[in-house]
Amino acid sequence: MVGTGSQVPERILTNADLEKIVDTSDQWITERTGMKERHIAAPGEAASDLAIVACEKALAEAKVKPDELDLIIVGTVTGDMPFPSTACILQQRLGAPHAAAFDLSAGCTGFIYALGVTQQFVATGAFRTALVVGVEMMSKITDWTDRSTCVLFGDGAGAAVLKASEEPHTGILGTYLAANGEGGPHLYMPAGGSRQPATIETVQQRLHTCKMNGNAVFKVAVRSMADSVTHLLHQTGLKLDDVSLLIPHQANLRIIEATTKLLKFPSERVFVNIAKYGNTSSATTIIALDEARRAGLVHPGDVVMLVAFGAGLTWGGVAIRF
Ligand code: ACO
Repeated sequence: MVGTGSQVPERILTNADLEKIVDTSDQWITERTGMKERHIAAPGEAASDLAIVACEKALAEAKVKPDELDLIIVGTVTGDMPFPSTACILQQRLGAPHAAAFDLSAGCTGFIYALGVTQQFVATGAFRTALVVGVEMMSKITDWTDRSTCVLFGDGAGAAVLKASEEPHTGILGTYLAANGEGGPHLYMPAGGSRQPATIETVQQRLHTCKMNGNAVFKVAVRSMADSVTHLLHQTGLKLDDVSLLIPHQANLRIIEATTKLLKFPSERVFVNIAKYGNTSSATTIIALDEARRAGLVHPGDVVMLVAFGAGLTWGGVAIRF
């Protein structure tokens, strides 16, 4: 991984702002989630508008020109439109004519899945220089009358540039991807696909918004992120002590704390920025990695683990040595 970048919308929505929209309180949101504010896109602002800025930052750090890219993968469930893919839109906007481009849907695990798929392509030699993006505009599929979900999400984008390397002990050391479709009904958007195409009724019933059974997702989240770390340790031969920084999906501070407690992992080596951004879905881990790197928390030789869970249900992780 030779470059990272991230971007969030300008507008900040605080817990105090949410108190004016639904029956909630700063105290409830802070105690139950750890969130204080989140960034919300402007009307008309789409996923690629944020993602392109994150991509340009990542490419600049990597000193890679867009026309050197041969692959772009975007993890998202809130792309600019159902098709064409946001990856193809970015390919055109960046000026990357030699890149194959596609989106990948794995809910909040989208960036981890995209990284895992990219790593396979690079390892086989199919592609050498790839751009991997996690971007989400959850505010656009949020039911702003449902206090159990609308306080949780924010918008954001992150990107990473990957280059083939001959060095055996750096870069992506291992990836773990998993899913259980039986958990699908716990976290989904009912309408807008072929099951329930858009009608006046689906709009009136707010079926184009995210529905979630928070308690069910919470339990799976803790187990699945801890499980992802354990799988990565087995796969790579690393020990917990070798992990310099753990970057978990930022869905709920209590989920992060329960996961690290289960793993007996020291909290001072866990990166948390949930208070500022809320849950930006597939963008959380890459925004956090970018922030951690820019804050000087990642040094050459450090092993960083990203783990996430999300709609599908999906979960997984990636171990990277910088
Ligand atoms: N403000 C005030 N009260 C609220 C709010 C709110 N925003 N939301 C719910 N409540 C109330 C409930 O109505 C309930 O009231 P009752 O006891 O009178 O019935 C009470 O608070 C407790 O509700 P719970 O749902 O039990 O609260 P919990 O502590 O479980 O927290 C939460 C809810 C934050 C949603 C938690 O379950 C959670 O974080 N779950 C995981 C969510 C998650 O990780 N999502 C990932 C999405 S991934 C993706 O792919 C998009």
